[in-house]
Amino acid sequence: MTTPDLMNVLYNALDEQLKVLGLTYQKPSGLSKSILETSAFFIQKKGASPWKNPGFQAAYIAHFLPMNIIRWLKVFDRIESQGFEELDSFLDFGSGPLTFKLAYYLKYQEFKPEYNFIELESIPIKIGSEIFKSIAKQLGDIKNENLSPSIKSLNLGDISPKKQSTLVLSYSLNELKDIPEKFWEFENIIILEPSTQEISRSLLEFRAQAVEKDFKPIAPCTHSGACPMLTHSKKDWCFDRTHFEIPNIAHNLYKILPFEKKHLTFSYLWLSQKETPKSQEKNLNEEIISDISKRPLRFVGDWQKEKGKEKIMICRSSEREFLSQLKKTKNPIHHNRGDQTNLDFEYEIKGNELRIK
Ligand SMILES: C[S@@+](CC[C@H](N)C(=O)[O-])C[C@H]1O[C@@H](n2cnc3c(N)ncnc32)[C@H](O)[C@@H]1O
Repeated sequence: MTTPDLMNVLYNALDEQLKVLGLTYQKPSGLSKSILETSAFFIQKKGASPWKNPGFQAAYIAHFLPMNIIRWLKVFDRIESQGFEELDSFLDFGSGPLTFKLAYYLKYQEFKPEYNFIELESIPIKIGSEIFKSIAKQLGDIKNENLSPSIKSLNLGDISPKKQSTLVLSYSLNELKDIPEKFWEFENIIILEPSTQEISRSLLEFRAQAVEKDFKPIAPCTHSGACPMLTHSKKDWCFDRTHFEIPNIAHNLYKILPFEKKHLTFSYLWLSQKETPKSQEKNLNEEIISDISKRPLRFVGDWQKEKGKEKIMICRSSEREFLSQLKKTKNPIHHNRGDQTNLDFEYEIKGNELRIK
């Protein structure tokens, strides 16, 4: 969960950058127009982000950047148990305003790992560096407040993936026409993508390609086999959801924006060639626990009401399965999309449903 204080720290830093552009959350009408235009630009997938356009810059600072930071904060919560904190070197490809770095810094309130980025444009890097320094100042982190972070983008051709062990792709994979071969040389690839059906299914295809190249899905997948959403359906897609609260400073802006104001959705995927000790444990279990009923399961859908019962899609193997419970079930479960649990309740198999007894 994100604490409101940290969100205030972030939004104060964002407002400072909006003021550089002559804008502020206090006067939201100009901002909302740019946000709606930028949203249409992304939905229509018109190509690389137009960072030279001041309206795009303002829209990204005011809305798209904080929303992606909030998504990352949830992903960090989800993947910490898989050993995320052991990763010590990141290359952020298509970093924009250093979104991943800002999220990491807000979460852990320090930034120890090595961090480099590749970005086509210098404008977002300058914006992100100023926001980083402003957050540091508000947190009393004198070292980072006075630091002049590098604003120089690396070239993919010069990178030694052995040193930069983790490739981060934050809302940038879908801007690429082709996947650079070098991506497959990284030990880890961590991806955050929009949760649309089309983009999320592309991510499932990326997963399948990676598995062929001997990568193991560390998260959110519960297994390394074929993903049933891809192989057993043409429509399913895998996404997660987080709850968030808009800080007071941005209330007036969101009053006039026609967006969902309580929940954010996203798709994510962590692939690895070299497993962390924690994920090793998980995958070892997968091999040892041939009895599928002993493996963990993850909820990958929303509850669907049907006559006399409700059901929700689950992920625990390459089979497309649901967990269901009748209205009269004595001990119903209350898990939701994204949660993981063990099958420590009694059930019977009914077709593709595990029905709770
Ligand atoms: C939608 S923005 C995402 C920014 C940031 N990672 C985030 O999550 O908020 C995609 C970024 O990828 C960058 N980009 C697109 N193609 C690129 C390429 N071939 N090399 C480097 N950066 C690229 C764009 O300039 C843009 O800043």
